[in-house]
Amino acid sequence: MIDPFPSPFDVTLSFATVEPGDDQRWSTWSAITPSERGPKPWPDWVVTSAGAIDTELGVLKTGKEADVFLLERAVPDDPAQSTLLAAKRYRSAEHRAFHRSGIYTEGRRGRDSREGRAVAKKSAFGREVEAARWSLAEFDALCRMWRLGAPVPYPVQVNGTEILMEFIGTDAVAAPRLAQERADHGALDELFVQVVDIMRVFATAGLAHGDLSAYNLLVHEGRVRVIDLPQIVDVAANPQGADLLHRDCVNICDWFARRRVACDAEELFAELLVLAFGVN
Ligand SMILES: Nc1ncnc2c1ncn2[C@@H]1O[C@H](COP(=O)(O)OP(=O)(O)OP(=O)(O)O)[C@@H](O)[C@H]1O
Ligand SMILES: [Mg+2]
Repeated sequence: MIDPFPSPFDVTLSFATVEPGDDQRWSTWSAITPSERGPKPWPDWVVTSAGAIDTELGVLKTGKEADVFLLERAVPDDPAQSTLLAAKRYRSAEHRAFHRSGIYTEGRRGRDSREGRAVAKKSAFGREVEAARWSLAEFDALCRMWRLGAPVPYPVQVNGTEILMEFIGTDAVAAPRLAQERADHGALDELFVQVVDIMRVFATAGLAHGDLSAYNLLVHEGRVRVIDLPQIVDVAANPQGADLLHRDCVNICDWFARRRVACDAEELFAELLVLAFGVN
C-alpha cells in the first residue's frame, strides 16, 4: 500500500551534483546587481539561470589594454540554455599603459575620492580600480549604443574588470575584422555605406567612437558590427572631441580609399560634425 503521508526521511532525492571543474565557474549573472546587466528586454538567448556554468573555451585575442576570451554559459544537460559569449577582461597589472586615458576622460569625474587617490598613487588597488573604470565605461557605451540601435554586440553584463557580450562569429570562430576582409569592389562599397551609417548613429547622439578603424569593425554575414568602445567621446563637450571625430573619418576613408572606394574624409567629417552639434 502507498503511504499517503511519507515522512521526509523516507524520500530519497537523487540530484546529480554538478560542480564547476577546472576552467569553469558558476555563472556570475546572479551575483551582480541589476545595473550591471544589459538593457532590457534581454535577448532570449541570454542565460539567466543560477544553475548555469561558465566554461573558458580559449583566447580570442590578446590586446594592448584587454584580453578577449571565448566563454560558454550553459545549464548542464539543457541544450536550450547554452550560449557563447565574448569575455573582454581589462588588464589591471602594471603591464598595462593607460597613456590614452587623459584625452578621453577630460571632464569626467570619479565617484569616490578614495578610489581617485588610489588611482593617482598607482597602487595595486588603484590599478584595479582604473581597469574596472574602463570596463564600466565600455559597458555603458555598449548599452547606450545598443539602445540607439547601433550594431554593437549585445552587452550581457559587467563585473569588475570583465565585460561579457554577445559573441560575433560562427561555430566558435570569431567574425573577421574589416581589416582582414578580402571583399570585391562592390561588396566594399556596401561595407563603406554600413560604416558611415554607424558613424551617423554615433554623431546623431553627439558622439564619436574615438578609435574607429578597420580593426574595430567586424564583418559578420555581410553586416558590419562595431566593437571596442571604451573611449567614446562627446564631440561637443570634450575639448578633443572634434579632433577625435576627424581622426575616425580619416582612418576609415583612408582604408576604403586605398581599396578604390570613392570617399572623402573631409566631406564625411563636415556632415558628422553638423549632426553632432545639432544635439542639444
Ligand atoms: N563580441 C565579440 N565577438 C567576437 N570577437 C570579438 C568580440 N569582441 C572582441 N573580439 C575579438 O577580440 C579582438 C579585440 O577586441 P577589442 O578591440 O575590443 O579589444 P582591444 O583590447 O582594444 O584590442 P586591440 O588592442 O587589438 O584593439 C577583436 O579584434 C576581435 O577579434
Ligand atoms: Mg580594438
